[in-house]
Amino acid sequence: MKVLNEIKFIMPSLSVNESAARAVVSSFLTQADPTVEELSDIRTAVSEAVTNSVVHGYRHTKGNIELTVRLLPERVIYIKIKDKGCGIPDIKQAMEPLFTTAPEEERSGLGFSVMEQFTDKLTVKSVLGKGTTVIMRKRLGTHGD
Ligand SMILES: Nc1ncnc2c1ncn2[C@@H]1O[C@H](COP(=O)(O)OP(=O)(O)O)[C@@H](O)[C@H]1O
Ligand SMILES: [Mg+2]
Repeated sequence: MKVLNEIKFIMPSLSVNESAARAVVSSFLTQADPTVEELSDIRTAVSEAVTNSVVHGYRHTKGNIELTVRLLPERVIYIKIKDKGCGIPDIKQAMEPLFTTAPEEERSGLGFSVMEQFTDKLTVKSVLGKGTTVIMRKRLGTHGD
């Protein structure tokens, strides 16, 4: 995988960092000149993943969340959100629409569905007790070039 540009951003698991992560991704993506809609989709998907690390991954502990954003050839954006939290016992079940382990907090269970819908490819890796890594790829259109 040829990487044209990359940033890494490490933040503690605080909910204020959901917006920090969105802002970091937005400013990095300026170089790729995304449309308003593309940027909005990516920001939403990043928010969902970082929120999951904060509220689920580090529910009983604290730790860092690592965000990696890459610009790949052909205007592909690669985004990785990694935590070292509790992990997911059953990834397939977790990714089902409306599945949530926190219904009492009025979680919708739609975070993974949103990530899937707003990007081209979503990969989730998780090891129980070790943490979760979410990778999203989205190819930007070629408007105006
Ligand atoms: N980073 C994570 N660490 C641990 N569990 C997670 C993580 N991300 C998601 N999950 C699990 O997957 C479920 C579904 O996630 P999601 O679709 O975002 O719905 P919601 O966050 O509304 O519960 C969560 O309820 C949680 O059990
Ligand atoms: Mg969620």
